[in-house]
Amino acid sequence: MAKIAVLGYGTVGSGVVEVLSTNSSSIATRAGQPIEVKSVLDIRDFPGDPIQEKIVHDIDDIVNDPEIDVVVEVMGGVEPAFTFVKKALDAGKSVCTSNKALVAAHGPELLEMAKERKLNFMFEASVGGGIPIIRPLNQSLTADEITKITGILNGTTNYILTKMSKEGSSYEETLKEAQELGYAERNPEADVEGYDACRKIAILTSLAYGSTVNFEEVTTEGISKISTADFKYAEKLGCVVKLLATSYRRDEKVYVITAPFMIDSTHPLYNVNDVLNGIYVNGNVLGNVMFFGAGAGKLPTASAVVADVVDCVKHKGTNVMTVWAKTKLELGKTDDEVREFFVRINGDASKDADAVKAAFGDVSVITVDGIEGEFGFVTGEMTEKAFNEAAKKFSVINRIRIDKTILK
Ligand code: HSE
Repeated sequence: MAKIAVLGYGTVGSGVVEVLSTNSSSIATRAGQPIEVKSVLDIRDFPGDPIQEKIVHDIDDIVNDPEIDVVVEVMGGVEPAFTFVKKALDAGKSVCTSNKALVAAHGPELLEMAKERKLNFMFEASVGGGIPIIRPLNQSLTADEITKITGILNGTTNYILTKMSKEGSSYEETLKEAQELGYAERNPEADVEGYDACRKIAILTSLAYGSTVNFEEVTTEGISKISTADFKYAEKLGCVVKLLATSYRRDEKVYVITAPFMIDSTHPLYNVNDVLNGIYVNGNVLGNVMFFGAGAGKLPTASAVVADVVDCVKHKGTNVMTVWAKTKLELGKTDDEVREFFVRINGDASKDADAVKAAFGDVSVITVDGIEGEFGFVTGEMTEKAFNEAAKKFSVINRIRIDKTILK
């Protein structure tokens, strides 16, 4: 019998307890022994709930318990999670976490601590919820050099953008509805400003290239400036707008960005809708592979956490190597990236088209019935720097990058 502790009895923590109970028999077979939750750390009490007899309020009750082999950290946020995880590793316990803020900020340090102690630090649930993506990058795609990762990594924003696209509703009303349904937090900033997706692509990119992406250096734009008008233009172009988190290697540099992109129906992520996530990975020998599914939610996230627990139990006394060094990965400048841009400017298409063509080349002007005093166009491929220079001459309402991810 392997005994574990869970730090945090919130949505994911209670999901972990539920999954271990629902699938106890198949999990025991796969782990080689039954797995039992011995203690749950929470500041709250749960009177009347059977979990109450396992609740402890002091982390030391867990780290000093020699029976506990694995600690599940599902509290979220960097502190006190970081301190508690270090204590657990120091006490000889492997750790599994769903906490992307912790992993993005301290992943290599915690991996190193686990390795030195012949333990494991696993974080499958930190990116893509229930979708396996960390283990594939770490174990299944090791024959490949990863050339590009393109992800829809945030369910909240994907829900909002899908609704806006399908129902023509405004950003504000859709966000409010998402909050009422529990898909968006009362303070939605981390999701809608792209910070959550930015940390997730930082983790995936660090694993793909073996050294650390400092998420604070990643160009990050959210969806709060996307309007219903943008979707009307997108529809005319046969496109949708998605919050993409992407990274790719070009000329020994890695370019990482989280921002809204327009993608057309040939794009593999075009049909990844609602709260679902999708991750499209290009490898130099494999070609293309796509991961798709529930990127958040109690049971999907708990499924990934419990799979890590099973792996820790199976590998007791052995460190499963994860290559992610503390060395900083040098990122290329967004200014040097080359792509097409969709642009909306204030003006009159019949009068201003010549000036636009003089600045951006032979572009076709797009107008949308019912939207007055402005027009749109799609540029040819150009660097972001050249785009910004040319755009200075105009009153730009919005510009959305275009992703054509299929690599030849
Ligand atoms: N807020 C996140 C999302 C939860 O919407 O995807 C999973 O990390």
